[in-house]
Amino acid sequence: MAGGGEVEVKPIDKEAFNLGFIGAGNLAASVAIGLVNQGILPPSRIFTAHRNPESRLDFTSVGIQVYKNNHQVAEECDVIIFSVKPQILKEVILDLRPLLSQNKLLVSLAVGHKLKALQEWAGHCRFVRVIPSTASVIGEAATVMHLGEAATVNDSELIADLFGAVGKVWKMDEKLSDAAAAIGGAGTAFAYVAIEAMADGGVVAGLPREICLSLASQAFYGAAAMVMKTGKHPGQLKDQVASPGGTTIAGIHELEKGAFRASMMNAVVATTKRSHEMVMHLGEAATVNDSELIADLFGAVGKVWKMDEKLSDAAAAIGGAGTAFAYVAIEAMADGGVAAGLPRKISLSLASQAFYGAAAMVMKTGKHPGQLKDQVASPGGTTIAGIHELEKGAFRASMMNAVVATTKRSHEMGQ
Ligand SMILES: NC(=O)c1ccc[n+]([C@@H]2O[C@H](COP(=O)([O-])OP(=O)(O)OC[C@H]3O[C@@H](n4cnc5c(N)ncnc54)[C@H](OP(=O)(O)O)[C@@H]3O)[C@@H](O)[C@H]2O)c1
Repeated sequence: MAGGGEVEVKPIDKEAFNLGFIGAGNLAASVAIGLVNQGILPPSRIFTAHRNPESRLDFTSVGIQVYKNNHQVAEECDVIIFSVKPQILKEVILDLRPLLSQNKLLVSLAVGHKLKALQEWAGHCRFVRVIPSTASVIGEAATVMHLGEAATVNDSELIADLFGAVGKVWKMDEKLSDAAAAIGGAGTAFAYVAIEAMADGGVVAGLPREICLSLASQAFYGAAAMVMKTGKHPGQLKDQVASPGGTTIAGIHELEKGAFRASMMNAVVATTKRSHEMVMHLGEAATVNDSELIADLFGAVGKVWKMDEKLSDAAAAIGGAGTAFAYVAIEAMADGGVAAGLPRKISLSLASQAFYGAAAMVMKTGKHPGQLKDQVASPGGTTIAGIHELEKGAFRASMMNAVVATTKRSHEMGQ
């Protein structure tokens, strides 16, 4: 096998290279559409293949060419991204091996499979592993990247630039890969479950579903942005929101009674474990104007929802206390990463970006978090193993209890 530095490789021309996706599924579509939307690559330089015309629509709708077979993509492209399921990755690479010269830069998006195996299957080591998420479509993925032995500095820059345009990229040692993917990839699905559960709590407390979902997404989005932008620990930010005997701490008490943190940590650890296993087996304003003025003022520092005052306690339980619940969730996800072997700093920044990206996906796509979660959780995969842990731990019930308890405490305090 041609290894690191033994063979002179042709540099990839950054202004002219063609990018191919082998596996035209959810993740490939998110990354490809994200790249086109961010103006990084024109659709005329992106290719993929799928036999089914219906599965081509996501790509063709933005002008990406979809061939009928993988061979055409491999022949046409200089940078080839493998985005098929881990279970079939080996056979797909082996089938294309005669076309995969060392002048082509290869990239795998699959969880689980290590560079050593990928390089063996391809017959050379100019390979990069990247694990993004479907939040790439809106430019908010939490992405992990590992370099193969023969990937050049230019290769590394090119891939970091591509994926940096559709999210944040962390380059790290491959031994941290499974745990990092459990946060950056699967973690977005855990965040969707948390957002949905917080919204459900609001519905129990009497808020209309639509308001609940937007408030809950904004609470997670704002909390994740606070962690990233202030650099403060989520525990510290949570303490700032939870005053003695107040409404927020009543909700947090419910989270802790329900072992909410343990469920989240279990989810991250179970997802990491499943990655290993898969590879092993394979106040009312006076006038309308005042109201608008206040809405404008507060809109400058966040989003504002106008509503009947009778909904106020439940809405505050999400929009206000909800940020504290989000801090607890972010901290717990980061703790899960540490339990799975990730350094604390990386774990916390990945977890914040995972929540930020997931909340932004709910707000920007207008899709239901359950639907977005389903797109990430494939049958028998790593993400669903983590979600199973959340459900076993009654994670949703804890979040709903937290919103209801906070609303109740608000009523009590108002009396
Ligand atoms: N989704 C995520 O959030 C996420 C995050 C991190 C990493 N990943 C990794 O990304 C990869 C793709 O995941 P995904 O969620 O995008 O899965 P997906 O939606 O199922 O996409 C896989 C695609 O591959 C196609 N395919 C099946 N056999 C093929 C073959 N022999 N040649 C070419 N294409 C073939 C499938 O076609 P059919 O539809 O006809 O089966 C499908 O369109 C996986 O390895 C996963 O580990 C995903």
